[in-house]
Formats: sequence, C-alpha cells, structure tokens
Amino acid sequence: MKDKCLRKINYMRISITDLCNLRCQYCMPEAGIKNKKRHKDILTFEEIVTIVKEAADLGINKVRITGGEPLVKKDIIRLVEAIAKIKAIDDVAMTTNGLLLKGMALDLKNAGLNRVNISIDSLKPNRYKEITRGGNLNDVLDGIQEIQRLKITPLKLNTVVIGGFNEDEIQDFANLTLTHNLDVRFIELMPVGEASRWTKERFISNAEVKSRIDNLSPVYDDANGPADYYSLPAAKGRIGFISPISSCFCSTCNRIRLTSDGKIKPCLHSNQEIDIKKIVKGNPERIKEAIKFAIQAKPEKHYLFTSNHQLGHRSMWQIGG
Ligand code: GTP
Ligand code: 5AD
Ligand code: SF4
Repeated sequence: MKDKCLRKINYMRISITDLCNLRCQYCMPEAGIKNKKRHKDILTFEEIVTIVKEAADLGINKVRITGGEPLVKKDIIRLVEAIAKIKAIDDVAMTTNGLLLKGMALDLKNAGLNRVNISIDSLKPNRYKEITRGGNLNDVLDGIQEIQRLKITPLKLNTVVIGGFNEDEIQDFANLTLTHNLDVRFIELMPVGEASRWTKERFISNAEVKSRIDNLSPVYDDANGPADYYSLPAAKGRIGFISPISSCFCSTCNRIRLTSDGKIKPCLHSNQEIDIKKIVKGNPERIKEAIKFAIQAKPEKHYLFTSNHQLGHRSMWQIGG
C-alpha cells in the first residue's frame, strides 16, 4: 500500500517485548525499567499474527521482530514459525543483541527466520561489558559464529558510534568485512532515550566515520534499507552507514512499527500512535482499516532538531529501533 507521499509501505517492525537482558547506556536507564507492563497490556502472539495477516493483505511482505530483546521472550520460536507461515510474508528478520543466539539459531532457522541483524558496539570485552552494563562479548561472538555456520544470510552487525567510547574501533569493525561475509553498519547515535541527555561530543556523524576508513568504494544496494553501502578492496562483506541524523532517509521510508502494547507507530520519531490492541480484541473486522489509517498518517519526514519536534515519549527499547 502507498502512503500519502506515494511511498510504498511493505515493511512492519514488530517490537514483541520491552524487556532486555542488557541495559545499554544510550538506551536503557541504569536502574532498568521502572513500570514493567502488565501481561494483559501486551499483545499475545496470536494477536500479533492476526495483525500481520491483515497487514499482509495490504502489501506488507517483510517483517522484522525486535524488542527490547526478542530472544528473551518465551515461545519466540512459535511466533517466528507462525509469521513465516503467512504466505505473503517473504522476509522474516530479527534484530537482536545476540547474547542468546548460539543456543537458539538452529531452531530459529528451522522456524523460518531468514536473517538477523546483531547489535555490537565494541570488540573489546571490557568495553562491551561497560556499554551494555554487564554483557559478555564472547556470547555475542559465539552467536555470530553460529549464524555464519548455519548460513543464515545476509548477516548484518549494527554498531552505534559513540564519541570518546568506540571511535578508535571504527577501523577494526571495518576490517571484519575483509575476512567475514557480513555487513558492518555504523549507526549515528540518535538523541532518543538515555542518549537524549548526552552531550554533543558523543554524537559523531557518519561523514566523519567514513573519513576515518581508507579505500572505501560505493556499492549499489537495491534493498531500500536505511543504509548506504561501501566496500574495502577484496573484502568479503560490506560496510554500511545508517545516518538518521545527518541525512534522513524519510523520503524512501517503507516501514511502520507495532509496539508490544499494541500501538501502530507510523514513524519512529513521532508520538502519534494508533491503538490497534483495542480493535483486535473488540472489532477484529476493523484491523485493516486501522492499519490503513496508520499508513496514511505517516509523516513526510521526522522533525528531530526542528522547533516542531516534541521529545518522544518512548525510548528505543520500547520501539525496537
Ligand atoms: P534491514 O532490513 O536489514 O536494512 O534492517 P534495518 O536496518 O531496517 O533494521 P535494524 O533493526 O537493523 O535497524 C538498524 C538501525 O536503523 C537502528 O538503529 C534503527 O533504529 C535504525 N532505523 C531503522 N528504521 C528507522 C527509521 O525508520 N527511522 C530512523 N530514523 N531510524 C531507523
Ligand atoms: N541511537 C541509535 N541507535 C540506537 N539503538 C538503540 N538506541 C539507539 C540510539 N539512541 C540501536 C541499537 C540496535 C538498534 C535496534 O537500535 O544499538 O542496534
Ligand atoms: Fe537492549 Fe538493544 Fe537497548 Fe541494548 S540497545 S539495552 S540490547 S534494547
């Protein structure tokens, strides 16, 4: 289905839980989540599948499962299986911190998961522990290895570049693409959640990141994703730059979001939400109408850094990025 700016909306990102087994400094408060959602406020897996089926009729063919951390959710394999079975959905992906992947990757693959994006902000164990407040880097590396062994491709690593923290690892991350068939994607830190209170020295533009990597050549990519891709000479993988701050990709945005408490968000950075949970419970025949409404409500672009911007009332762990 097309929105009012004639963008084709074919991608639904579904945050299935707010909960996470990490508390990355830019994402979650140090004390963890204060008001945990009650069970009854969260969409059940059956409700999610019902919504996805209706969305598929409207042209959604790509689903990404996010969190919090989606793998902490009991029965996640069953959900992947049910979504993968929907005929019109031809891409079932997941964004995860990777900690639990090693033991679950085979079941996820068998359930129909096509690919994963893994968040990893440092290749140094102590730093990884610091930024994630306690995460074990080796668990993530084991998960990455398992995904590669099972040939769940393409594999993408997401790295948020943070001034004074991991900027000296940019080349190390880029070099991973020389020896591994995967994409390393550098993400500009967004002033969302905890990072909305961070000083400007922490925010590094992707132009700056790019300038610190030698011998990059642009690579054509037709996937309509948020990243611009490059590669190093003779590399096996690619280097991507996701630049929501310096060059917003709103004009080609193809996505809507569903939160774990049953709200459709037409845009990551807008507070507008359409309550679909009530409709699923009370008037399931009106689900399509609600999705259509949400697609038409998609703003032309985000208003970050303009006088029109209102601070988001949800953080990344509640939206799933
Ligand atoms: P691919 O389909 O593999 O390209 O995945 P993706 O990049 O859409 O998903 P992923 O979950 O890996 O997101 C990577 C980063 O891009 C995260 O930091 C997201 O917050 C950011 N991102 C994804 N979609 C949007 C969006 O619509 N707007 C903005 N500003 N950022 C986004
Ligand atoms: N800015 C940029 N990326 C962020 N993520 C979480 N919070 C932020 C932020 N403030 C990233 C995670 C993960 C993805 C889903 O979103 O690191 O890779
Ligand atoms: Fe969890 Fe992802 Fe937030 Fe880190 S960035 S605390 S892994 S939701």
